[in-house]
Amino acid sequence: MCKTSEKAIVLVGFMGAGKSTVGRALAKLSDMPLIDLDALIVQQKGRTISAIFAEEGEAAFRKYETEALRSLSDAAPIVLATGGGIVGCPENWKIMRCLGRVIYLRANWGTLRERLAGSSGRPLASSDRSEVDIMNLLQQRIPLYEQADLIIDTDGRKVDDVVREIMVRVKD
Ligand code: S3P
Repeated sequence: MCKTSEKAIVLVGFMGAGKSTVGRALAKLSDMPLIDLDALIVQQKGRTISAIFAEEGEAAFRKYETEALRSLSDAAPIVLATGGGIVGCPENWKIMRCLGRVIYLRANWGTLRERLAGSSGRPLASSDRSEVDIMNLLQQRIPLYEQADLIIDTDGRKVDDVVREIMVRVKD
């Protein structure tokens, strides 16, 4: 049973899909606060995402991710930018759907590859990971992202354009 008014906009998508960038612009335009789940985990745990992965491993990070998500259950309407791996745990889906509409920001591999090149602080897309590994991770996750309520294509589009489409489609 959902306790909230289900008014949040929850952005999901692979690393580099633009969840934080789109989230910031969407929050501004819709006059809702932005919560970045990775930033919340860093705040709650007092360590960077990379440090959590290095010191405790991915399983611990996933546990913290679900805990952080749970801590939002009673939050007011928000725009929530999630981490790319949030979709792997069924409990996360229950919480996200209770919070509001889940929106998949879809981008093709070419776009993601470009955006991830040179990025840091992402243990699952770091330079010691092969491109094939990252691409495989994307392939595994696509069917999970596709469980979202709405899918918005972002390839070759300006942030404002994507945000406008989200605003229109969440009203439908
Ligand atoms: C992850 C994505 C990251 C962060 C963590 C794990 C993933 O967030 O949560 O490094 O599993 O895809 P971004 O999608 O914001 O990069």
